[in-house]
Amino acid sequence: MAKYVLAIDQGTTSSRAILFDDKMKIVATGQKEFTQIFPKSGWVEHDPEEIWESVVWSVKEAMRKADIAAAEIAAIGITNQRETVVVWERDSGKPIHNAIVWQDRRTASYCEKLKGQGLEKTFTRKTGLLLDPYFSGTKLSWMLANVKGTRSRAAKGALCFGTIDTFLIWRLTGGRSFVTDATNASRTLMFNIATQEWDDELIEILRVPREMLPEVKDCSADFGVTEKALFGAEIPILGVAGDQQAATIGQACFEPGMMKSTYGTGCFALLNTGKDMARSRNRLLTTIAYRLDGEVTYALEGSIFVAGAAVQWLRDGLKVIGKASETGDLAARADPTQEVYLVPAFTGLGAPHWDPDARGAIYGMTRNTGPAEFARAALEAVCYQTRDLLEAMRKDWKSEGEGTVLRVDGGMVASDWTMQRLADILDAPVDRPQILETTALGAAWLAACRAGLWPDRKGFSKQWALDRQFKPEMDEKVRRQKIKGWSQAVKRTLSQG
Ligand code: G3P
Repeated sequence: MAKYVLAIDQGTTSSRAILFDDKMKIVATGQKEFTQIFPKSGWVEHDPEEIWESVVWSVKEAMRKADIAAAEIAAIGITNQRETVVVWERDSGKPIHNAIVWQDRRTASYCEKLKGQGLEKTFTRKTGLLLDPYFSGTKLSWMLANVKGTRSRAAKGALCFGTIDTFLIWRLTGGRSFVTDATNASRTLMFNIATQEWDDELIEILRVPREMLPEVKDCSADFGVTEKALFGAEIPILGVAGDQQAATIGQACFEPGMMKSTYGTGCFALLNTGKDMARSRNRLLTTIAYRLDGEVTYALEGSIFVAGAAVQWLRDGLKVIGKASETGDLAARADPTQEVYLVPAFTGLGAPHWDPDARGAIYGMTRNTGPAEFARAALEAVCYQTRDLLEAMRKDWKSEGEGTVLRVDGGMVASDWTMQRLADILDAPVDRPQILETTALGAAWLAACRAGLWPDRKGFSKQWALDRQFKPEMDEKVRRQKIKGWSQAVKRTLSQG
């Protein structure tokens, strides 16, 4: 009997395939990085063909390592970088342009124009989002306006729009499924999170033909089966969620008040607010945590665009580290008397500032400042930004107070130094689970549950186990001083400063 579950995690910098067994244990992983394309300042693109090839390669690699045939895989769960836009031809499956990535800021002035028309309130009321280039809607508008012939072809039904999940499912099923899930749809600026439908008024404002939008399903649902020729047998796709939502599930944050923060390319904190479509007064997002059996669970989200990407910059840009894992040790050696702040606004600033025109800055350098101080500043920036998000959440959602513990995951949390500093800056405990592959685990659970292989929510929550809790230790005066320095650095970096 097929007992394995495959999670496909299509992230911002790499694609991964993770095979789990029936005991929820990882048996093999395949991973491939792909090219980041930066055509202009603030623009970020991916080649959808390269993404597709990296996914197929990763799946085959995981199967090869585990020596498992496709017939032994009961279900696939897909999770993905959210908001990134792909448009392809319905007939050939060929993309008409590079994917425009969530980090891309090219539609900043279009967002300003829409705001100038007083439309932000309408978008926020219906989608829970803000008019920022981060989300898919204005990126899709850009493609429709700038790639020749696109609008008329789209209106005739010849083109398909999708976030990465939709594009992958289309390809995996040989064009038989044109679908997405509610969490991915909720990031597009076109999906009404109250009615759970594409919103006619919003797609009209953005001038998007309805014909090009996919069907929206629950996160656990029948998304189609893979073509036999791809992996050797048909495999049903039974789970889909955006990567941050999948991590929320993987961290078993199923109860209102539970919160997770994932440190990948960016950092995204999600607070489960249950059936309450909590509205933010502090520039956070209201979004869908998951939709199961037609029932929606909402979340408040704080989104930071640069977390691991700052470490990548230390490695690939400044070349002061050889491997990302060296950063914590280097930071620990930084001179405590130097107050160096990095505001990593490489692609603008996300929550709670939402300033697409801000760019990165460093403050407080002296003649003695070196790689260690840079490393510490990069890691601390992530901690300060998490604090800014949590402060906003506290103001927005009264029950988020004492008692709420932050569950963390993602590549950066392996560093003890960083997690201790995070607890210190937050002045709150930070829980690191034993399983750090929470994004893949969440996607696998969505699929495995539907396949009847893994336990339900309650049973699944029980497998969550603590690796280590980091408790705040920093002297209060020092903490206040550091936070003040950070706030001043941000203020000086904002474009309207
Ligand atoms: O919203 C963007 C997010 O989904 C990207 O996630 O893991 O690539 O930082 P990640």
